[in-house]
Parts: sequence; structure tokens; C-alpha cells
Amino acid sequence: MIELKFKDQVVIVTGSSSGIGKACALHFGSNGAHVVVNYSSNEEAGREVVEEIRSNGGSAILVRADVSEEEDVKALFAEAVNQFGRVDVLVSNAGLQQDAPFLEMTLAQWQKVIDINLTGQFLACREAAKQFIAQDQSVNRNAHSELAIGKIVLMSSVHDVIPWAGHVNYAASKGGVMMFMKSISQELAPYKIRVNSVSPGAIKTPINKEVWSDPDKYKSLLQLIPYKRIGTAQDVAKAVAWLASDDSDYVNGETLYIDGGMTLYPEFADNG
Ligand code: BGC
Repeated sequence: MIELKFKDQVVIVTGSSSGIGKACALHFGSNGAHVVVNYSSNEEAGREVVEEIRSNGGSAILVRADVSEEEDVKALFAEAVNQFGRVDVLVSNAGLQQDAPFLEMTLAQWQKVIDINLTGQFLACREAAKQFIAQDQSVNRNAHSELAIGKIVLMSSVHDVIPWAGHVNYAASKGGVMMFMKSISQELAPYKIRVNSVSPGAIKTPINKEVWSDPDKYKSLLQLIPYKRIGTAQDVAKAVAWLASDDSDYVNGETLYIDGGMTLYPEFADNG
């Protein structure tokens, strides 16, 4: 009998109708969790994720929420609690890119990315922390142990340390995510809430399709990856699950790079 790592834990994954969020939702779903699948505009895609979890024998619901809207985020958590009674894990994943050269970047492009990627994580994490603290601890599986009562994993990016011309809104948002994550981790640890983030490199998802679907761009992308392959959303989902599990209970305020070595300055391998 295989042990289901997240049996009966309630896991909210923001932005889980596609890409890395979807892979996380499916992974938690096949590991026994009750999954709250969240989308903001593509309802059809969200419904497909829920169907896939259920057809694999898992449990999931679909909730629409724009993470940059305070009332939407509150309603997302209220619906999770209404359906499943509690929340154990938040994967604060929803994010996007709106690329433009710096000299041409509009305030709207800047603001949109900061709103979703940074303010959205603030709103989701704040709601999760409040819920973890307020809910009935006696029914928490970790109530009579030293283990965390709630876990948060934020979606950052290698661009929380790698500067990225042409994407300054995105890089600024992810740099912000790193210090936000570390600061709330420091603040929430005494409540036995663990907060960490993952920083994916080039992962084959819709967000960077323009790069991996073009043979020339794909070839030059591989030069930035010592491990010489593009990542999969499952590569990231497995690391997220580890950070959300009791196996990483003593890991707090850390950023785990899942990037095939992209942050190793690959251009220095035969240069410098
Ligand atoms: C971006 C991708 C990019 C990758 C590596 C990610 O955070 O969303 O578009 O391919 O970083 O540069």
C-alpha cells in the first residue's frame, strides 16, 4: 500500500488552470489531497484540471478568483473552508509576464505584473496565514506533534536573482517575492507556519512557448542550462510537494532553485 503524502490535507493552488500550477494541482490530487483549483479567466481549462483529478480518484473543486483582488482572495479561502472545512497548504503560484523593453514599458504593463505576481502573493499568503491560525487546531493531523500546522510555498523564479532585460517588471516582482517570502517566514515561524519558495528556470509551459517552440531560440535557451534540457512542470511540482510536506519540516524561509543549473553562470564554464 503506497502512503498518500497529502491524505485529506486541503491544498489551495492559485493559478492552477495551466502550467506549473496545473501540474501542482494534479500532483497533490494524486497524493490524497483535497485540491482547490483556482483560475481567473479560463474556466474551461480549470474545469479540465478538476475533471482530471477526479478521474484519477482524487478530490477537487474549482474556484474563480483574481489574486490581485482582495475580495476574490477572501472568497477563495472562504469557499475552500466551506467545502473542505480547513486549509493545510497554500501554493501561491499565480503569475504572468507582460514583456516590453524598459524604455517602452507602460505603467499598465508594470502595474499588472506587480499586481498579480507580488500583491497577489501578499493577499493569498496573508489569507492563508490567518486561516492556519484561526482554524480548529485540534483536528489538525499535526496538533500533537512539533510539525508545522500550515505550509506555504510561493512561486518565484530564477529571475529573483538573475537580472532580465526586457522583463524588468517580472524580475522586480520575483525579487520582491523573495524578500516578501523570507520576511513572512520569519514572522510566521513562531506560529508553526512554514513559508518557502521555489524558483524555476526554463520550464516548458505556456508562459515561454514563444521561446521553446522556435528551434533557434530553443537552441540558445539550452546554452543557458548546464543540464541541457528544458524543465517540466512536474519537475517543479515534485519540489513544491516536498516543501509542503512534513519531510521538509525544518526548512524555513528558503528558496529552492529548480533550474538545471541556470543560476550557475553557465557562460563562465569555458570563459572568464
Ligand atoms: C520565466 C520564463 C523563462 C524562465 C527562465 C521564468 O521565470 O517565466 O519565461 O523562460 O524564467 O528565463
